[in-house]
Amino acid sequence: MKMGFKTKLGKLMLCSSILVGSLAGGSAYASVSDDFTAIWSRQQAEQVARTTDTTAPVIDTNFELAAPDVWIWDTWPLQNRDGSLAIVKGHRIAFALVAPRDFGWNDRHTEARIGMFYSKNGKDWTYAGIPYDYDNAFGHMQWAGSAMLDENGKVHFFYTATTDMNANGGKEWNQDGWVQRAEQRLAKTTFDISADKNGVHLTNEGEHLIIAEPDGKYYETIEQFQSHGNVITAFRDPFFFRDPNTGKEYILFEGQAGSGYELKPENIGDEEYRKTHTVPERAKYYNGNIGIAEVLDKDVTKLKLLPPLIESVGANHQLERPHVVVDGDNYYLLTISHTFTYAPGLTGPDGLYGFVGKGGLRADYKPVNGTGLIVANPAENPYQAYSWMALPDGQVISFINEPLDETGKVKHGGTFAPTLKVSFNGDTTKIVKEMEAGEIKPFGPYGKLK
Ligand code: FRU
Repeated sequence: MKMGFKTKLGKLMLCSSILVGSLAGGSAYASVSDDFTAIWSRQQAEQVARTTDTTAPVIDTNFELAAPDVWIWDTWPLQNRDGSLAIVKGHRIAFALVAPRDFGWNDRHTEARIGMFYSKNGKDWTYAGIPYDYDNAFGHMQWAGSAMLDENGKVHFFYTATTDMNANGGKEWNQDGWVQRAEQRLAKTTFDISADKNGVHLTNEGEHLIIAEPDGKYYETIEQFQSHGNVITAFRDPFFFRDPNTGKEYILFEGQAGSGYELKPENIGDEEYRKTHTVPERAKYYNGNIGIAEVLDKDVTKLKLLPPLIESVGANHQLERPHVVVDGDNYYLLTISHTFTYAPGLTGPDGLYGFVGKGGLRADYKPVNGTGLIVANPAENPYQAYSWMALPDGQVISFINEPLDETGKVKHGGTFAPTLKVSFNGDTTKIVKEMEAGEIKPFGPYGKLK
């Protein structure tokens, strides 16, 4: 066994606070302390493998563009506070990252803004442009987020402000080596929403606010990132979630472990596994986690950072766009990840990954299906889609990324991918249906899957 970092007794103590209880059916579950962080270990990540139930059908490269002038990627619907689909005078609303198609496919990230779409049937979407004044928004670019319509008709519009190290509010842009300076913060603004014969309108744009930044303790700051420089830092993708079982509200986000984190024995695996497993030296710089902040006010402007829900230190660098599906007291913690963000010695497909926990949002999460995969791109078309988001009823939306045509050539997508329907059943999931491109059917609140 080779370990990059020293073990500290203090960190081990964290796990000893797990109390093992038992459900009526006799199956064991773990109830955990408030500061418990679950672990996706190298041993578990070694079990990642495609199965028929978790491999997406191949996407036809003769797809239509939902908005021909812009690249479309990460997408999310407008949801009510309880998670159900918001319907405004018969319209469903979706937001997506957009950038003009004049910019190259690979250059789109630094031009990203959030565009609005609306549809009456949930299949034919009208692109309504960027609803905010981006000179007032934080960040040189705005990355993924979520959107909630409250009981007074206000739209809470959460996004990632990705800046150039905060210079002039992030507006002093310097393209050279931008990834090393891609500081990220969680931001929001608000709108009124209305609909008429001309479509859906977001008006009365509110003040833009920064609602959370990395603390350096649980969550890596840009300066901490720069000391190792692995891939890119993460403090992004705010996802609003009201827990149906407690009524408490949270923002989940993609983070990375902050100061003093270490690659602990539990990040590697159990004792048996550790006897034979060698951890490659650079694995310690792969420090992904799923962050969480408690929402302290109704307007979702005051947040308190809490310890991460799960970490993949030593296993995977990025747990992107985290979100949840709830079924009774089963919590499915979902995230997207890439082949290239696995730590050395490990691999897995670009896909939607999931961890199941019982009894509460903070839980001793274990990979679903034993593999952790919920939706994987097929082996023969490994980058055809990305940025899957499971909705509360198991519909899974995503965008067409880099599918291969019949000659094996990459065709850049940048539009909605066919929606998938996934069933969740205890510790297992299954892709049960392929729907239309970009399709979103009405869905109910979190907690009632069936
Ligand atoms: C996932 C992602 C998000 C981020 C966006 C930036 O596709 O990496 O985490 O917000 O893309 O383009």
